[in-house]
Amino acid sequence: MESSSCRPLFTCIALQATILWSFARSQQPGFLSIDCGSDSPSTDGNGIEWVSDTKLINEGTSRPVTGGSNPLLATMRLFDGNQSKYCYSLTNSLVEAGAFFLVRVGIWAGITPPYTPKDSDGNFRFKMIVDATEWQDVSVQYGTTEWLTFDVYTRAQRSSIDFCLARITPDGDAPFLNVLELRPLPSTLTATRAINATNTIANCLGHNDYGVPADSNVSFTRYKFDALDRFWISSKASDIDEVNTTTLAIDVSERNELPSRILQTTFMGRPHIRSWYSELKPKSVYIAEFYFAEIDPAVTASGQRTFNIYANEELMNIEGEIDVFAKVGANAAYGYPMVFSPNSTGDVTFNFTPTATSVYPSFLAAAEVFEIKIMNNLTSASTVSAIEDIKASLGLTSSTGDPCLPVGYGYPWLNCSGDSGITALMLSKYGTGGEIPGAIKSLPSLTEIYLGGNNLQGEIPDLSSLLILEILDLSNNRLTGAIPDSLASLKNLKVLYLQNNNLSGEIPAALLQRKQASLLMFEYSGNLLCESNSADCVPSPGSLPGPNGSPPKNTSIGAVVGGAVAGILVVAIAICIAVYCCCFKKKPPVQKDPKVVVPQERGVEINQRYENPVPNKAMPKLAVQEFSFEEIKTATNNFRTKLGQGGFGPVYKGCLQDGRFVAIKVASNSANQGTKEFVNEVDLLSRIHHKNLVGLLGFCNDQKLVLVYEFMSSGSLFDCLHGPYSAASPLSWRKRLRIMVDAAQGFDYLHNGCNPRIIHRDIKSSNILLNDNMEAKISDFGISRDYVRSETGAPPTTLMGSMGYMDPEYMSNMKLTEKVDLYSFGVLLFEVVCGRTAIFKDTSHQPTNIVEWARASIDRGVIEDIVDMSLHGQFDVQSVWKVAEVALACVEIPSSKRPKMSEISLELREAERMELESEERHAIDQPSVEFTGNSNYSTLSYTHVSAR
Ligand SMILES: *[C@@H]1O[C@H](CO)[C@@H](O)[C@H](O)[C@H]1NC(C)=O
Ligand SMILES: *[C@@H]1O[C@H](CO)[C@@H](O)[C@H](O)[C@H]1NC(C)=O
Ligand SMILES: *[C@@H]1O[C@H](CO)[C@@H](O)[C@H](O)[C@H]1NC(C)=O
Ligand SMILES: *[C@@H]1O[C@H](CO)[C@@H](O)[C@H](O)[C@H]1NC(C)=O
Ligand SMILES: *[C@@H]1O[C@H](CO)[C@@H](O)[C@H](O)[C@H]1NC(C)=O
Repeated sequence: MESSSCRPLFTCIALQATILWSFARSQQPGFLSIDCGSDSPSTDGNGIEWVSDTKLINEGTSRPVTGGSNPLLATMRLFDGNQSKYCYSLTNSLVEAGAFFLVRVGIWAGITPPYTPKDSDGNFRFKMIVDATEWQDVSVQYGTTEWLTFDVYTRAQRSSIDFCLARITPDGDAPFLNVLELRPLPSTLTATRAINATNTIANCLGHNDYGVPADSNVSFTRYKFDALDRFWISSKASDIDEVNTTTLAIDVSERNELPSRILQTTFMGRPHIRSWYSELKPKSVYIAEFYFAEIDPAVTASGQRTFNIYANEELMNIEGEIDVFAKVGANAAYGYPMVFSPNSTGDVTFNFTPTATSVYPSFLAAAEVFEIKIMNNLTSASTVSAIEDIKASLGLTSSTGDPCLPVGYGYPWLNCSGDSGITALMLSKYGTGGEIPGAIKSLPSLTEIYLGGNNLQGEIPDLSSLLILEILDLSNNRLTGAIPDSLASLKNLKVLYLQNNNLSGEIPAALLQRKQASLLMFEYSGNLLCESNSADCVPSPGSLPGPNGSPPKNTSIGAVVGGAVAGILVVAIAICIAVYCCCFKKKPPVQKDPKVVVPQERGVEINQRYENPVPNKAMPKLAVQEFSFEEIKTATNNFRTKLGQGGFGPVYKGCLQDGRFVAIKVASNSANQGTKEFVNEVDLLSRIHHKNLVGLLGFCNDQKLVLVYEFMSSGSLFDCLHGPYSAASPLSWRKRLRIMVDAAQGFDYLHNGCNPRIIHRDIKSSNILLNDNMEAKISDFGISRDYVRSETGAPPTTLMGSMGYMDPEYMSNMKLTEKVDLYSFGVLLFEVVCGRTAIFKDTSHQPTNIVEWARASIDRGVIEDIVDMSLHGQFDVQSVWKVAEVALACVEIPSSKRPKMSEISLELREAERMELESEERHAIDQPSVEFTGNSNYSTLSYTHVSAR
């Protein structure tokens, strides 16, 4: 420590709030500034216009906050009800989908807070949510004299952004806030570009201005110095710290639109600088950006002040030492961004170390750090609009924000199921009135509707669009009209409760039948209903001919007797039918399932059928089916649907007599496969079975050589990664991992498990096929003898393989070993990580080899640059690292350094486990991270500003 200056990176400094109000000018367009709990608008000293929130939110109560001098902090809005969350919908003319914003919250409870926190450590704790994403849990010390501000960068998903507060648990502390601000951000900032590319939010852990002299009265820099109105907290130098300052203007054309003032003061190392940050989340991804300006006139040339930046001892500036003068000259801003993850205990230490030749010490003018968090998509607009209609018609206005997300903070009266939308409406005994909202019809994912015990009136709407509805409870309301026939069309309906309403008319016979057949629990007592054909059936008002229509017929005695006799007869017949049904149970009606024809197993003695049998090898009986060419023609509907073209010939889709779909490969005329190769193929393939190899089902050897394989309905990995639908519905990282695990297991079997051992030599993504269940299987192995590992090691005569996948070592020495496959498999792994083809065109349209390209970024430690953008950051970064490391090992030269396929399979499974665990962690609400201050150095991830 002797020669180094140690400073915490993020300092918590009490600021005099009066400095806030020193300018008076009109504010920027797009600023929205809410003074929570206040009932009147105001304009502050910076010209920022504040609005009251009384018209912006229905929930919560306004409370006075005592002990501060800042008028904006004089009131708070306290949410002490029991809603799952309380949301402000932030909007103005600039908020539209895709636009970037800073959302900032100011929180202070005053010196006499409205209640005592639950936790014995005396901290208020509650949750902040932005749109559908959990932003951060707040921890505010009871009775503190400082107010806290938190800010996050986010991208709007529509014409408003929800900011919500919630209790962490249903009996947790009631949340509150004092100010809420929305500021538009340009798309060019490091952090906005990062969140756009990765579909994330950037939780700001601090904007810090270093090197502010100890005697300076500048406590922070914001609007109007900063047009974007970030809060740059001054980190004041101590008496022994060395700083440089200048009054010269700084060129701030650097992309982050920095305020010139924060660069006019610079903290100087003696000669190096160490700064640290702790209590981060070990597995999260963070962005840091450090800002410099050469303001010391003594530095007049490149090379005079050069240094390196290390994060936890890892060199960050691997493309060369930092030399600000060389980059931008004197008095100009230079930003150096980086992505880092803290170590396993959540710590990061940055060292700014001068190089041996540097004349001057390292320095630092300002810094920003963001935690990058996955952004949830809002529930779909159509679902939200249906829910809004339901809220309006049932008067449920206290439910605000996204109906389903974040998980655990959706509306309590809804069940949402991940991608499939809203599955249950649970509004029994909610005391709601009005009619059954028609918008229910627009929620086709509903399986359960509970609306019993309310005051609902009107008729039951047509719900036939709710095809998967299972439970409908409308009991104990005041519904009128008939039971709509459409209810009988709901084939999945298992429970129908309509009892205790004012329903009238005939009960649809189909519903009664299903009740009788015990297919439906159907309650309808307490209404004016009648069963069809019964004499006392009053037509429903809907079917009445009108008030002046013909009255019901006079019932004569004869009719009564006749009716009674008929009634007895009906009962007797019914009993007979019932007895018959019970005692002489008929077979259930024949289902319309396709007829299943079991294929005949036609064992074939290959020896007898081919002119050129494989020498010295007794042909086994093949357990695969032989087809005639006619059968093949029928199965492929005369070769109608071509699936693709393989090395052997074209591949067609076919359907066997038993209804199984198959892929049928027909040897092309031009293909020089002779009968001998064909025999080899069938011989070999019929003996190779593994769940990750495409199975051979049969062959045909009349007129043409044909191979029949199991059909892989989901196409090839190539299609999934690069095909026309790959951008719109990208394979998730988790699926990619599963596919690679499957493929590795298949190749491991070829290399080690099967006899003869096979080297594939044409590993590429178009040869990895996926079935209905997205299980991956390898195709096109063992097409010719060439693929079988030569026992004698005799070199084959031709190189085989595909562009971009071929092992450079094999290309030069023609030595065929499993290691050749390993190389191709490594390329495949890069393809899966990067979502790019093995050879692709870079931004300047130059053909680029994926291995070299990816290696460059991995070596620099910035894997985010190469990960497939269509994953939108939705992956566990450790898991991606793992796969990248495996991929690098696969393409090692010399090939002897490459691992075994079995080892790869294990490593990939480990990567898969990491991803699954990370997904679980995201699914279960993570416990809040506690930011407990430490007097020696700051561990606070927020900015303190004095309220006094
Ligand atoms: C929510 O609070 C209200 C009163 O504010 C109370 O009547 C109601 O029972 C509470 N609901 C729950 C689920 O706690
Ligand atoms: C953000 O990402 C989307 C989709 O990747 C892209 O179309 C858009 O141009 C990006 N916006 C900015 C401002 O970079
Ligand atoms: C800049 O700081 C150094 C200490 O590191 C000091 O020696 C030098 O005089 C300062 N220069 C200016 C212009 O303040
Ligand atoms: C993480 O870094 C901190 C300081 O930078 C150090 O004290 C701690 O031991 C490190 N933890 C591990 C597991 O390396
Ligand atoms: C959000 O939507 C995009 C595009 O539709 C999708 O790629 C992404 O996976 C979704 N994010 C989440 C968290 O579901």
